[in-house]
Amino acid sequence: MSLAGKRVLLIVTGGIAAFKALELIRLLRKGGCGVTCVLTKGGAQFVTPLSLQALSEHHVYTDLFSLTDESEMGHIQLSRSADLVVVAPASADILAKMAAGLADDLASTLLLATDKAVLVAPAMNVRMWGHAATRANMATLQARGVAVVGPDEGAMACNEFGAGRLSEPPVILAAIEAMLAGARPLAGKHAIVTSGPTHEPIDPVRYIANRSSGRQGHAIAAALAALGARVTLVSGPVTVPDPAGVTVRRIETAAEMLAACRAALPADIAVFAAAVADWRVASASDQKIKKTPDGAPPALALTPNPDILATIAAAGADRPRLVVGFAAETHDLRAHAQDKRRRKNADWIVANDVNPSTGIMGGAENEIHLVTAEGIEDWPRLAKDEVAGRLAARIAKVFA
Ligand code: C5P
Repeated sequence: MSLAGKRVLLIVTGGIAAFKALELIRLLRKGGCGVTCVLTKGGAQFVTPLSLQALSEHHVYTDLFSLTDESEMGHIQLSRSADLVVVAPASADILAKMAAGLADDLASTLLLATDKAVLVAPAMNVRMWGHAATRANMATLQARGVAVVGPDEGAMACNEFGAGRLSEPPVILAAIEAMLAGARPLAGKHAIVTSGPTHEPIDPVRYIANRSSGRQGHAIAAALAALGARVTLVSGPVTVPDPAGVTVRRIETAAEMLAACRAALPADIAVFAAAVADWRVASASDQKIKKTPDGAPPALALTPNPDILATIAAAGADRPRLVVGFAAETHDLRAHAQDKRRRKNADWIVANDVNPSTGIMGGAENEIHLVTAEGIEDWPRLAKDEVAGRLAARIAKVFA
């Protein structure tokens, strides 16, 4: 995918993450992409027009830019002069203005006037991102076709932790490249992604679970959506936030996960990233199991759960064209993954080493080996959202 000869209109709004726009401009310029920057009043509290100008090698438009001095064509032309409009960072304020159709400064006026595709990279405090107003604004924007990248989860400048951090510049760059390349290569495709653990009840208050965080599966759902796919994310109980722009089906047990996957068919793509419990309690008690006076523990008879991946991969005419499974192993990774691919009738297996020494399970990074019919690709250790981005791009190639 080439950026060369393309032009991006980059709107930089207020927020501590505005400094990352500088690195984004550098990456875009390195790829041969022209960048025209618009800096809002808030944005100018964090980065200077001079920095943006030096890196973009282009005049920077600020709120000082007076629409009254311009002919009406001035800002209309500016809004259409680029191949893509990118808002990074996108504050809660600009998202609200976009959703409401306000045009009270240059940035919001351009966003209302443009006829080009728009990508937003939100960045804000975790509570602002989670607020019902922001949720509703995002839903409105996405329903209108605005593309979204991020936000990430992590420690924030305000000493809180959660979703709201601006995506890293290389991730925003990948989303820009994908959009410029035509670039919702998975538009019209439906992807089912499973994520997180399952909880298998012992009684109404106890359950069997595992340590899956849902980070990798959620990142894959977001990355597929960023490439234009309609995504149904079937998620077990997790604390990671719902990715923007995907339909989330929340389930607890493996049986519910299978039912939700079946209900979501037909699909073109299925990625089974969930850590499904292999067994459930054969007959879970509908009352809390009491301790016996002699302290003897209850005997829990276990029964196997359905294998969701294998079931959907054997769904005959309903089988998604590309079925991707995961293999988390602590030893003989490659052999087990190859065997799993054949046994479960998956097209690809994403294999990773979850030996505690790797720090992968529950961590922010992943080092995967992609097992296909052609062989095994060893990928470098990457952030989980970069793994997701690459995997989504690899999936898009199948449908090119
Ligand atoms: O056999 P194993 O659990 O290692 O297989 C892992 C792969 O199979 C993952 O893609 C996981 O999501 C999927 N799986 C499933 N249903 C199960 C068990 C695993 O879909 N009951």
